[in-house]
Amino acid sequence: MGKSEQRWRRGMSRRKALSGLASFMAASPLLHAQRDPWPLGPHRRFLGFDEMRDVFDFEPIFRANVPLAVYDYTAHGTESEFTLYRNRDAFDWVELIGRGGVDPAAIDTSTELFGHAMPSPIMLAPTARQRDLHPDGELGMHRAATTTGTTMIVSNASSLPFTRIARGAEGPLWFQRYATREMEPNRVALGDAQEVGAQTIVVTIDQQASYYERDLHVRHTGGAPRRVTRREPQPDAPNPYRVSAGRLWYEWSLFDDLRPMCEVPMLAKGILTGDGAKKCLERGVDGVIVSNHGGRALDYGPSSLEVLEEVVEAVAGRVPVLIDSGFRRGSDVLKALALGADAVCLGRASRWGLGAFGEEGAQRVLEIVNAELRQAMAFAGVASLAEIDRSIVKTNFP
Ligand code: FNR
Ligand code: LAC
Repeated sequence: MGKSEQRWRRGMSRRKALSGLASFMAASPLLHAQRDPWPLGPHRRFLGFDEMRDVFDFEPIFRANVPLAVYDYTAHGTESEFTLYRNRDAFDWVELIGRGGVDPAAIDTSTELFGHAMPSPIMLAPTARQRDLHPDGELGMHRAATTTGTTMIVSNASSLPFTRIARGAEGPLWFQRYATREMEPNRVALGDAQEVGAQTIVVTIDQQASYYERDLHVRHTGGAPRRVTRREPQPDAPNPYRVSAGRLWYEWSLFDDLRPMCEVPMLAKGILTGDGAKKCLERGVDGVIVSNHGGRALDYGPSSLEVLEEVVEAVAGRVPVLIDSGFRRGSDVLKALALGADAVCLGRASRWGLGAFGEEGAQRVLEIVNAELRQAMAFAGVASLAEIDRSIVKTNFP
């Protein structure tokens, strides 16, 4: 018998190996940890509503409240999620220069957009299907917005139709549209939205090929949104295994078709270059939102904060420039204002608030970020938005 045969003969039997593995597993701290509800990890305690101190506090509560697929749908970005993380990294590359000397009580964050007065430049970005997060859904989100004087952009993919949300709404509402290739449905949707009081139409043009790898692998939904059920390959799509063909036809001329349908201002959402902004202006767009869709459109693109100044320069004050993607803190908002933004929209931050505590959670998120903005302005020594300029920041973008 050769050496290796001897080793096999003396080696553990399969039964012994399995029983050894079983006793190791039973004693293992790893197995124990797996029983803990994800994602509490070492914290082992949920923070209560009154313990919420910043926007990040809401995220684990939201995460624990909803099925994994619902959590993933909010959390994910495209592909390797480079841009998703870069959106947060970007704030590390902008320093705030603290000059102080301003009484926080004297801080005034009020502003105006398209002739409408706003107590703050912080707004709500359009995000889909808010009833999956909490039964309060868009109605709760809008009440939270109204209580805090925040303008809400309602998503084209809302859980409730815009007309229903607008019915009885007291605070301002903007409507976001994903254009269909056929123009008639656009005409109807934009007409209906304006009829019930949409102050502004936002046309999103960036998310042309939406797919998220985490969603693609969800097979059982357990109450999760229908859109994340397992997808079959689409033979006619550019990439049958991954990419939906739904929005792969957008061209700048889309605005030529849509502009005449809007009696209210029309904004383009998803602009990341000065050239793109100029093309929008040539086609009569009344404002742009600098956005990479929270890292959900093209991966490996820049953070929106990095390209903000380029867009602001191209627009040269002709129309308002709004921004979103990655904003979580008041100081984030101040940095964007210093780099030339007129307003900042919150996406995931608002979803974490709603998903954690419903309307009250969304309201508290808005209160916290607004309070943080006032605090950051006091540290930076600026008492009003008009006083905010480039001199309060130093950029170290790579
Ligand atoms: C979005 N976003 C989005 N945008 C849009 O124009 N229409 C939509 O229906 C949605 N839906 C949507 C759902 C979810 C779950 C997310 C996270 C985002 C994009 C949104 O308006 C905004 O651009 C980003 O959310 C901004 O990034 P942050 O704030 O989430 O980092
Ligand atoms: C999203 C779409 C709905 O980001 O805009 O999921």
